[in-house]
Amino acid sequence: MNARIFATGLLSLCASASFALENGLARTPPMGWNSWNTFAGNIDETKIKGVIDVMVANGMKDLGYIYVNLDDNWMANPARDASGKLQADAKRFPNGIKALSDYAHAKGMKLGIYSDRGSMTCMNVPQSGGYGHEADDAKTYASWGIDYLKYDNCNTVGQMQSDYTTMSKALLASGRPIVFSICAWQTQSWMPDQGNLWRSTTDIADAWGPTGWSVLGNWDGQVGNYIYTRPGAWSDPDMLEVGHGKLTEDESRSHMGLWALAAAPLIAGNDVRSMSSTIKAILTNPDVIAVDQDSAGIQCRKISDNGDLEVYVKPLGKDFSTFAVGFLNRSSSTQSLSINWSSLRLDPSSVTVRDLWNRTDLGIKKDGYTVSVPSHGLALIKAKGTPDASATWWASDLPFTLLSNGYGTFKQDKSIDGKDLKLGTKTYAKGFGTNAASKIVLPIYGKFDRFQADVGIDGEVNSGGSVAFQVLGDGKSLFQSNVLKSGGAPVAVDISVAGVDSLVLVATDGGDGISYDHADWAGARFTFSQTPTGILAARGAVHDWQAQVRGDLLSIRRTDAEPTILAVRDLSGRLALKRSVAGTNAEIDLTGLPHGTYIAQLLSSPSQRIFVRN
Ligand code: GLA
Repeated sequence: MNARIFATGLLSLCASASFALENGLARTPPMGWNSWNTFAGNIDETKIKGVIDVMVANGMKDLGYIYVNLDDNWMANPARDASGKLQADAKRFPNGIKALSDYAHAKGMKLGIYSDRGSMTCMNVPQSGGYGHEADDAKTYASWGIDYLKYDNCNTVGQMQSDYTTMSKALLASGRPIVFSICAWQTQSWMPDQGNLWRSTTDIADAWGPTGWSVLGNWDGQVGNYIYTRPGAWSDPDMLEVGHGKLTEDESRSHMGLWALAAAPLIAGNDVRSMSSTIKAILTNPDVIAVDQDSAGIQCRKISDNGDLEVYVKPLGKDFSTFAVGFLNRSSSTQSLSINWSSLRLDPSSVTVRDLWNRTDLGIKKDGYTVSVPSHGLALIKAKGTPDASATWWASDLPFTLLSNGYGTFKQDKSIDGKDLKLGTKTYAKGFGTNAASKIVLPIYGKFDRFQADVGIDGEVNSGGSVAFQVLGDGKSLFQSNVLKSGGAPVAVDISVAGVDSLVLVATDGGDGISYDHADWAGARFTFSQTPTGILAARGAVHDWQAQVRGDLLSIRRTDAEPTILAVRDLSGRLALKRSVAGTNAEIDLTGLPHGTYIAQLLSSPSQRIFVRN
């Protein structure tokens, strides 16, 4: 892609509602391989080409594992030439990095590289750090055809946020789309804005845990990050140890399954050139990969925790009907774990289950699901059913992303200080406790009718707080409060959100700074839309033509085959779409038509069809 097309792509992305680093990359979690876990610094072009060849031949590439990432020690020692330009090690990479990326690209793969925000990488190679060289290094990577940069946190000189921001901007300015992987072994709220992924934890090691550098140790550092994860911005609990050596088969499956539930990057770290068929089957299970790569891009949440037994849920898709559920057994013996469909807000009589490791459909399970899980195992299912409109749809139980919070630690179902949410004399079990200025995004995909909440400054503040609350639906203001003060009466929000794709809850500081601005969205909840998708009513003779809406397609069936024109108007009569229709069967693509209610008319007929575009 040349620089101009890339820049145009950025513009169009900015126009759509998106909330991450706007380089258009990694809209699903990156997948690939990295050299560190198996080879540490012992890498050369023969090994890397061998890995590329195998990943193409064994099907990993076709399943999405496309990034092959060089980790530490690809560079010369010292790492720069007299002019300060980075050099590959001439013995181990005699043809240079550009030749290697050409090799990868010719095979449909992509090449990643590694550097550090300090003066040297973690292997202390002299001059290898990017500090002060960001713009030049980004241009070098672009000229070498690099597609991904992992940027480490050793031998630091500058300040963390500013160093990573400098490199993020340098990559954007390089003219080449390059995935930016922040590797600072922690989570900071600015990271999702600057990186496509950020390493949430210390290094992983070839160990199960439960603590330290291990699968469970890293997992426990990742679990809370669902509040940040979103398309384009992934929390990364580090590369996979599957097939590296020490994990048992059950532990390897658990590791892979947990990372998929978390929408974590799937970067294999084993020697893929010599893996067993069992390990290959774990890394290449298409059903498990599909959980990781789901387009909604939501990280799972833990919904029950009984000591060693935990249940995790990841919503799939955009209609609140489908979930991946993981049942983790940390104990040393086989245990039984269960889920009740009310915790997914599904009508129990409708729920079908698929076992994802065995890739088999288990049919309708109306009494919930119970499964026997071996020690250190993770059972993984997909549950699909009809959303129960009569359930209470608490906002804090639904997928959301915290974009910002002014001070302290954002809370779900508690005030910012960790107490019960309290407005006036009333306490609330559910809601969001923030400190202005704060912003929360709820992707609701046009599935809800109303949003309700009580807003105000939490009762834990006696005086001094002042906040204005606002609700935006797809960028339009749907609600705006006056400046509310501590001790004042809460304000009830009760608004239509019909057809809204993403709802943003904003609390601003009331114009006087953020002190004491403990802004609550107390009792925040939705009503599920009971308006069915599709045709609501037909005006006029129904025999001359019929219509049906399914997803993005409007299907037309008619008796008359003569060419005519379909006009789709909104309820105020404005023309929204016009298409020619020929033959008795026609399919009209509705992609791009906003959510809402429309009237469809064929010019050859006086009758109209009213439909809802969800
Ligand atoms: C750090 C990183 C690892 C790896 C090594 C390389 O420890 O966290 O993932 O890149 O450096 O030296």
